[in-house]
Amino acid sequence: MKDDRSLQELELLVVARLYGLAEARGVVAKHLQDQTLHETQEVASVEEQPRTDALHPLASRASRLVPSMNWDELRETVRTCQLCGLCKQRKQAVFGVGHESAPWLFIGEGPGADEDEQGEPFVGQAGRLLDSMLAAVGIQRGREAYIANVVKCRPPGNRTPTPQEAAACAPYLDRQIELIKPRLIVALGKTAATRLLDTEASLASLRGRVHRYKGTPLVVTYHPAYLLRSLPEKAKAWEDLVFARRVLRESA
Ligand code: URA
Repeated sequence: MKDDRSLQELELLVVARLYGLAEARGVVAKHLQDQTLHETQEVASVEEQPRTDALHPLASRASRLVPSMNWDELRETVRTCQLCGLCKQRKQAVFGVGHESAPWLFIGEGPGADEDEQGEPFVGQAGRLLDSMLAAVGIQRGREAYIANVVKCRPPGNRTPTPQEAAACAPYLDRQIELIKPRLIVALGKTAATRLLDTEASLASLRGRVHRYKGTPLVVTYHPAYLLRSLPEKAKAWEDLVFARRVLRESA
């Protein structure tokens, strides 16, 4: 029953776009909002613990609909997403931030408490470090860069997202990549590298090389939160960013 409703919502969004129904989109957005509120209350009353380990039965259907969405539809779909258990404890989904045609795309793991609160990726301590690292190579958030995460909702206690959670969110990140068409992707940390390169190889072994994600050059570096705990690795992250900048320049 709940699955049917979610499916209907996703289809409504796509149909509204196909027919250019601007007002219909508003109606769908309102419908999604009401539905989410209703279902959040419904879920909260029957389930104390979030279910975070199983892929939602609608995930494969969503992965067929999401690839044709525009930015507004994608943002709205992410905002109301319930494809994995992370939706149950989030304050809000954290979509991504930056220039929608940015040459640089930085991909982290998932929102923490600050991001969950403010609705923007990398706004906490790790985010401040990321911003200063970017500034050091002449990149400004919102100008040359877009910043997104593997999962859009905060994992409880800031744990690593499960592979199922990353898989449920994958169509959203993939669509963001398709819409942005970055010239270079930087995977920040193991979770992003594993998700995008489909490998369990260590971060150290993945650094310093150009990989590809669906044809787009991709480099791997340490996650800023890890750098906060391991200061000596900061120099390596700096090397990675200088390497990434060279890769981007040479691809011009
Ligand atoms: N860590 C991440 O991976 N992403 C954020 O948005 C914040 C912290």
